[in-house]
This record gives sequence, structure tokens and C-alpha cells, in this order.
Amino acid sequence: MAKSSKSFACTECGNVTSKWSGRCEACGSWNTIVEETPLSSGPAKKSLGASRGRAVSLTDLGGVESPPPRTSCGLDELDRVLGGGLVPASAILVGGDPGIGKSTLLLQAAAAFAGAGLKVIYASGEEASAQVRMRARRLGLAQASVQLAAETNLRDILTTLETEAPDLVVIDSIQTMWADNVDSAPGSVAQVRAAAHELTQFAKRRNTSVVMVGHVTKEGQIAGPRVVEHMVDTVLYFEGDRGHQFRILRSVKNRFGPADEIGVFEMTGQGLAQVPNPSALFLSERGDPSPGSVVFAGIEGTRPVLCELQALVAPSPHSQPRRSVVGWDGGRLSMILAVLEARCGIPFAGLDVYLNVAGGLKISEPAADLAVAAALLSAREDVAVPAESVVFGEISLSGALRPVGQTENRLKEAQKLGFTSAITPKGGKAGETSGLSLTQSGDLAAFVGEVFGAG
Ligand code: TYD
Ligand code: MG
Repeated sequence: MAKSSKSFACTECGNVTSKWSGRCEACGSWNTIVEETPLSSGPAKKSLGASRGRAVSLTDLGGVESPPPRTSCGLDELDRVLGGGLVPASAILVGGDPGIGKSTLLLQAAAAFAGAGLKVIYASGEEASAQVRMRARRLGLAQASVQLAAETNLRDILTTLETEAPDLVVIDSIQTMWADNVDSAPGSVAQVRAAAHELTQFAKRRNTSVVMVGHVTKEGQIAGPRVVEHMVDTVLYFEGDRGHQFRILRSVKNRFGPADEIGVFEMTGQGLAQVPNPSALFLSERGDPSPGSVVFAGIEGTRPVLCELQALVAPSPHSQPRRSVVGWDGGRLSMILAVLEARCGIPFAGLDVYLNVAGGLKISEPAADLAVAAALLSAREDVAVPAESVVFGEISLSGALRPVGQTENRLKEAQKLGFTSAITPKGGKAGETSGLSLTQSGDLAAFVGEVFGAG
């Protein structure tokens, strides 16, 4: 028998190497490298070019394709994240932390698509049918025409799908699926890849949409959803903070629609409820104006979303002061602190700095720079920013303020929610159309002077 050479794979990013190491060279994660049995361990086959294959038919780029017909499930938040409904024969990955609500979301989605006339199968490798039925009863979906299967053997599932020919199948989760032609444990990189590959192929071949659930894992032995992201058409992440009831479904890749779109849900006792007006929800917990609290007018996908940033600045007992961030990028916080110090002469040395995005939201827009700076200054100077203002704008390393995209949308949303003024960079298409009074500054030093007095 041929001696099989060892190979190792990273469970985080799927990078394959010939030797083990504590840290993945490709993605930098620690303790994620595990041994994998290679897919084929036989002697090398003849090169593909050596024997003749079948000629592939070629076409030109021109020609009219009608846009894919989509099915809306009626859950607007989900339909929008999918790019306007479910595309037939698409492969979708839904990633998220364990316990965040993926199974709940997909059972509700399965029932909604069944209600829209699709034939839907929900295959669970994690829960017995009785458990899924119990959940369905809790969600008030016991009457939905969804067919259940509790199975982990991929061959059996595919055989069933071939005969049943559903329009949509949900696989919960891809890490529990077991392809018997692959010689490694369920959940390993090779198994997860093989299962996702088979299911994606099935989707294209039989015109069935496949939704796969992928747990984001931190333990090394189970492969994460990132190892299959490249295979599927659409990648959605279900995010949220267990301490909050808000959940955000975010599209990070979509071959049939805009990426970066979000849907907002709220976890309730009867499952996930849609949140059509996220700004109102994110601001609902806001109390009286207090130092360190600032409302940022952001854009998530195609929608404006207002949320509260909170900063706390306190003398540090440590030689190295703390910088702690929840919901924003720590590197970007350091940059803003450095710009405040270098361009405005406002030092934060010897001060602990805490920054939090209220409601468990995660913000990645540079447009939040100015709102962060305002929150930091307001906390440091112990002066509240006027409660009826929103703030947004990008800060460059020179201390200049740059206008950001979709200024109008941000201002309109602020006005809709009862704000009367906005603090923004100079320039940008703004102003006249909105009824807000604007405070505009060209650079950070001018902003400090205008909003916080002398600075
Ligand atoms: P679940 O969908 O099982 O998470 P995942 O599939 O991502 O692991 O959701 C688990 C959590 O959701 C659990 O802690 C209970 C909570 N939950 C509710 O609050 N309300 C509900 O109606 C349901 C079904 C679950
Ligand atoms: Mg689950």
C-alpha cells in the first residue's frame, strides 16, 4: 500500500501545510492547525493534459439573460439581505456563533418560504425531529408545510433530495454532516469542504437552493464557515451579543445582490421578530444627555442606522493605560487618540479610555471617526454634546475632516427621528434639503473649538 504523506489544515481559514505549527501562517490564528487525511492517498495520476477530455462549448459575453426569478418569503429583513428574495439553485452559507439563533432564524425562514409556495426540507444533524418540532410549536409554526429530516449521513440526505426534489433545503449544520467517501472525522476541514462541495453541486445540478448553517468555532478541531466561503454564492453572518436581544443578519458576499446589506431582528420568547426601524430601537435605551454619549448617523448596507456611542475617560492607575473597545476597531481608536494629541494638543496619556457601541451593534465605517472623537472629548472634558445632534465624518491623519457618502440619507434619518442639528465635515452634498441646522468644520482643531469651546 502506498504510504500516505501527512498533511495539516487550518480549521479557521483552510490553509493546507505539510507540517504542524502552533500558529497558522496564512491567517495568524493560534492552535487551529490539525492533521488531515488527504483526499486521495494513492500514487499520482497521469497529468490531466496527457489524455484528451471532452471539448467544452464556448459562448460570447453578449446575449440577453433575464434576471433570476426570485422568491420573497415575506420576511422583509431576510429578503433584503438576500438581495430581494431567494434565487433558485443558489448556495447560501449562514455563519454565526453557537446559540446566536441560526436554527431559529432558518426554521422561521423555511416556514416562510414554504408559505410562499416552495417545497422545503429542513435537515438537522444537531437536533432530533422531536426537538425541531418542539421549537416549531414554540415559534407558532407547527402548521407550516416543512418536511423534517434528522440525519447526518450526507449520502442518505442527497439520495432523499434526489427523489424529493425540493425547491429549498436547509442543512443545519454543515459541521455535523458526514461524507462517507472522505476519510476523516465530521467537522474536519476535509469533511466540511467535501460536504459543502457536494451540496453546492447538487444545488446547481437539480435547481434546488441550499442553505447551510456554519458555526463559528474557536476550538481547533472543528472547521469554521470560512473554509467554505469561496464555494457558495452568498455568505451571511448572523451577529449579535448574547447579552442583547438584537440580532443582525449581514451579507458579506452575494453573487446576486449587494454585499454589506443588513437585516435587523430581535430575539423574543416566540422567536425572531423583524425590526423595520433599527434606529429607533438602537436609540430606545438612551437616557438624558450625559458626557461621553454621542449619536452617530451611520449607514449599514443601503439603510441609515442611528446608534449611540459611549465613551468613558478616567485617570489610569496603571503605568500603561487601558484602551478598551466594544463594537468598533481598536486600531482606529488608537489612531483617533493620536490625531487628537498630535493635531489638537489634547493628550490622553495617563487616562484609561473605554468606548462602547450601545445595543451590541458592530460599526466598521470610517464615517464614525468624528462621532468617536466627539464622544472621547465629551467624556474627557465632562461636557455633554447637545442631545438633539447627530455626528458623522471621517478624520484623516493630518487632522482634516473628510465628508462621507450618503450625507443626505443620514441627515434625513436623523430628522425623521426628531434630531434638529448635525455636526459634520465641511463640504459634501448636504444641507438645504434637510431641515437640520448644521455645524460644519474643516479640520479637527476647528471642530474642537466649535463644539467644545476653546479646546
Ligand atoms: P438557536 O437557534 O438554537 O441557536 P443556534 O442554532 O445559532 O445555535 O437559538 C438558541 C437561543 O435562542 C437559545 O439560547 C434560546 C433562544 N431562543 C429564544 O430566546 N426564543 C425562541 O423563541 C427560541 C426558539 C430560542
Ligand atoms: Mg442550531
